[in-house]
Amino acid sequence: MTARIINGTKIAKQIREELKAEIAELKEKYNLIPGLATILVGDDPASHIYVGQKQKTSLALGIYSERHDLPAETSEEELLALIDQLNKDKNIHGILVQLPVPSHISEARVIYAINPRKDVDGLHPMNVGKLTIGEPDFLPSTPYGIQQLLIRSGINIEGAEVVIIGRSNLVGKPIANILLQNKEGANAIVTVCHTRVRDIAAHTRRADILIVAAGTPKAITADMVKEGVVVIDVGTNQIGTTKSGKAILCGDVDFDSVKEKAAAITPVPGGVGPMTIAMLMMNTVKAAKLSARLI
Ligand code: GUN
Repeated sequence: MTARIINGTKIAKQIREELKAEIAELKEKYNLIPGLATILVGDDPASHIYVGQKQKTSLALGIYSERHDLPAETSEEELLALIDQLNKDKNIHGILVQLPVPSHISEARVIYAINPRKDVDGLHPMNVGKLTIGEPDFLPSTPYGIQQLLIRSGINIEGAEVVIIGRSNLVGKPIANILLQNKEGANAIVTVCHTRVRDIAAHTRRADILIVAAGTPKAITADMVKEGVVVIDVGTNQIGTTKSGKAILCGDVDFDSVKEKAAAITPVPGGVGPMTIAMLMMNTVKAAKLSARLI
């Protein structure tokens, strides 16, 4: 079997088009313009690129967006004061602090400071708790994007053996909770693997759907999966540079060998990556509707 490629670029574009139409309607019917503020502290080049992409997508969809780029030496108090100001700003419905923040700032205190109703990253403990009890407001963007990739590719999640590699707060734990919900597009049997699992392959070979956020290039090889598996690769690893200076990327899955056994697989790049920003935009629109009591 050679796998069907799950095209995240195409699915993300479809979601952006749906959102663009919805945003135009919100403006016309209710004079409501969703607003997103991004905060970036320091000069990490990758974070700069991500924030730039979030800003660009917001503008293209008709979302009002504000970019707050702060120097690396910004104090925690200054950052918390900005968050407080944005919490009170009626034009801002979503606040995103790009992670990681510099080490002299507590990531937890920053996340706790964001008004949970503006927490479009879904990382505030209130939103983590609401997801856990099955009443989510905001799902974290990357796992939300993974669920959408599966649903929109027609993959049956209900009753499926889902095996997740990685237990991070950004991906592993929330995707486990999302797919465990008693809802359409969920109801999976979920196993979460991590660095202390003794025999990873014993678990991955059972998977109907394998979600890999291991942080190691090509960690999953063909001998570790069963025939007909659906593979979602969350990894983005730079393994070299082309002559023209472009990054050569690969995922956490050995794509070339695994695609020969899988029923469907996401590529890197062009799989999960494009979905993250699309889902952030969806959360921002939801935050605006919540604030206007439209939902
Ligand atoms: N850095 C890497 N992923 C994310 C994310 O989903 N949200 C934020 N705020 N920062 C990140």
